[in-house]
Amino acid sequence: MEKKELIHEGKAKKLYATEDETMLIQLFKDDASAFNGAKKGTITGKGEINCTISSIFFEYLQSYHISNHYIKNLSPNEMLIKKLDIIPIEAVMRNVVTGSLEKRLGLQEGMMLEYPIFELYLKNDELGDPLINEHHAYALQVARPEEIRLMYRSTAKINAILKSFMERRGMVLVDFKLEFGRTDSGEIILADEISPDTCRFWDRKTHKKLDKDRFRFDMGGVEQAYREILERISSN
Ligand SMILES: Nc1ncnc2c1ncn2[C@@H]1O[C@H](COP(=O)(O)OP(=O)(O)OP(=O)(O)O)[C@@H](O)[C@H]1O
Ligand SMILES: [Mg+2]
Repeated sequence: MEKKELIHEGKAKKLYATEDETMLIQLFKDDASAFNGAKKGTITGKGEINCTISSIFFEYLQSYHISNHYIKNLSPNEMLIKKLDIIPIEAVMRNVVTGSLEKRLGLQEGMMLEYPIFELYLKNDELGDPLINEHHAYALQVARPEEIRLMYRSTAKINAILKSFMERRGMVLVDFKLEFGRTDSGEIILADEISPDTCRFWDRKTHKKLDKDRFRFDMGGVEQAYREILERISSN
């Protein structure tokens, strides 16, 4: 598949057009950012690692009939994807308290949530991706009720599938962020990436953080942590 013009350069990825107008190439960069772009850096090898990790998760979810934009890998840091009309909402699911939830509600980090929490954030860099609820989404006309319902059902299913997948590999799926998009026929499918940039993973025994929090809080061993996730999910 021939790579054509660059159509989007984001903080972590680049999107290129292809000769097929229904498909894009998603290239994963080594660039890292946190706190809505306030902190920037690079993580050597991250592009290739995240591309591979995302491919593994997308393929695994397809085996459970969770439709997603992944088609195939083209190089270590590039995947061919279905072009979608992205719904400008981040769908977050949380199993364990940390991060902004810990601060917002004054909860103890590490507290297990008996009922996972589903959150929506508006994708708007100028506003710093604010927390919204479904009614804001309808009023802002970014998604319709049946679309939000579908995003919730899909995110809950993905949580159940990936939680046990990670558990079997000695890790806790703490929380994660997903993006969804519409196909030409109006079907809502999973898009973007699933990686240590967009999920929090802890070692089950030690609770060692194996995700972007190591970069956010200058904990060191960032690249090793990303590699460890790849190694652990690559083995059965
Ligand atoms: N299948 C798809 N079709 C079209 N766009 C997509 C698809 N999957 C992901 N995207 C979009 O591609 C971009 C990927 O770039 P990246 O994640 O680096 O952006 P970003 O800097 O994080 O900005 P954003 O806040 O938009 O995510 C995102 O805007 C994402 O919404
Ligand atoms: Mg992004």
